[in-house]
Amino acid sequence: MKEELNILIQAQYPLIYLVTSEEERAELSISAIAQSSKPQRRVYVWTVTHGIVEYGQPRNVTQHNTVSPEAAIEWIIRQKEPAIFILKDLHPFIDAPATTRSLRDAIASFKGTNKNIILMSPMQQVPIELEKEVVVLDFQLPDMGELNKVLTYHIDQNRGRRLTTEAREKLLRAALGLTKDEAEKVYRKAQVTTGRLTEDEVDIVLSEKKQLIRRNGILEYIEEDETIEAVGGLEELKKWLTQRSNAFTERAREYGLPQPKGMLILGVPGCGKSLIAKTTSRLWGLPLLRLDMGRVYDGSMVGRSEANLRNALKTAESISPAILFIDELDKSFAGSSGSGDSDGGTSSRIFGSFLTWMQEKKSPVFVMATANRVERLPGEFLRKGRFDEIFFVDLPTPEERQDIYRIHLTKRRTDISRFDLQQLAKMSDGFSGAEIEQALVAAMYEAFAQDREFTQLDIIAALKATLPLSRTMQEQVTALRDWARQRARPAASSVAEYQRMEF
Ligand SMILES: Nc1ncnc2c1ncn2[C@@H]1O[C@H](COP(=O)(O)OP(=O)(O)O)[C@@H](O)[C@H]1O
Ligand SMILES: [Mg+2]
Repeated sequence: MKEELNILIQAQYPLIYLVTSEEERAELSISAIAQSSKPQRRVYVWTVTHGIVEYGQPRNVTQHNTVSPEAAIEWIIRQKEPAIFILKDLHPFIDAPATTRSLRDAIASFKGTNKNIILMSPMQQVPIELEKEVVVLDFQLPDMGELNKVLTYHIDQNRGRRLTTEAREKLLRAALGLTKDEAEKVYRKAQVTTGRLTEDEVDIVLSEKKQLIRRNGILEYIEEDETIEAVGGLEELKKWLTQRSNAFTERAREYGLPQPKGMLILGVPGCGKSLIAKTTSRLWGLPLLRLDMGRVYDGSMVGRSEANLRNALKTAESISPAILFIDELDKSFAGSSGSGDSDGGTSSRIFGSFLTWMQEKKSPVFVMATANRVERLPGEFLRKGRFDEIFFVDLPTPEERQDIYRIHLTKRRTDISRFDLQQLAKMSDGFSGAEIEQALVAAMYEAFAQDREFTQLDIIAALKATLPLSRTMQEQVTALRDWARQRARPAASSVAEYQRMEF
């Protein structure tokens, strides 16, 4: 990023929009760029509270009469020397006609000078008049190198023990995805908790990071205790995932393999889509970050939703390699491609930004999305090449159902030999995995109320009392199947597929 910003400044881009909440870090970078550029540039910072102040000067050494945005920009236009002008948090004023106009005047006057304006703000808001003139840049979160400085400083301050290279790397990696201030905070917290900062404190750093990420509310760290063995059936899908266990390693790159981009798991509700997605985290040994699209949308201010999405994606990228889990994608983007423009186009803009990000991302963030309904999914997602693979999870075959019974019974009882799995599988045609599990639980409740152990007959009774979704929503399920047969890869093994047709 710093490189990119440097290039833009040297190339005399008049107006750069830097999206960040880390003002101090960003100012430091800009000042370093200003000093190393030829010719050297001064740096001025504008805020609505102090007007224009030269970077590094005390706040009261302000340029006279530069508090109003227009006055500040007029002042900037008058300057002759090479300089970078940082306007902090101009976004609440940027839509005012006079502000927009004076920015355009400034841009026009910058031709052939070594002057640039950098708009710095935690959220992106660009009026249409300026869209063509401005380059938007995300200021990236600190990388390992920058975090290393934070850690070193912290250890020196606390006269801590020297760390081994491995311990240091673990502590750094654990703080990836945090801002500099946040990283300082988690290292301090770990230090205070145990009185030292060593490899043993990595878990504290990690759990603090999880909390900080949760607090931002849009991304959530998910820890799933189940392994992929807890998923019944879906052999093809499991094989695909297992084959890619080491896809994000250096070794895979050296071998010449491309980095997987993402997958979409479509299918009937309750058949294990979310479950298998979550277990992939363990299988691949990568963190799983759930992106809650519902929380991305925020109508309180123009540009807020976009800023939320950007921040979430930026955090995911800085924690990468990681899995970005979007459960029920169909709900997240419903209506974004339709005509229902009830939210002033926000959802289609969000959808557009997300697609662009997916298209252009170089970072090892694997997108794992699930969806229950295709008709609500924008067609762009289904186009070839968007995801590495689209899998279809159908209702379980008899074989798969046996597997599901075995898994869920084994979870609850050590000896399950008294159950006839084959019969149970046969009696639950059209049941989803979730419905099978529910029937088991219902049977257990029944027996428990009568103060006895549950039996095969209890389960059968519970099955008979259930009307599965595949029957109540037969039309939808059939439509989904017909659609998916032609366009998606079956998640069940081909043998199971063959059995399904016979059944
Ligand atoms: N194939 C399966 N194997 C084992 N359990 C399953 C399976 N499918 C569903 N379940 C059970 O039902 C629960 C809900 O399934 P879920 O993964 O949320 O379904 P989906 O996301 O497809 O709607 C799971 O947590 C699991 O307990
Ligand atoms: Mg689900």
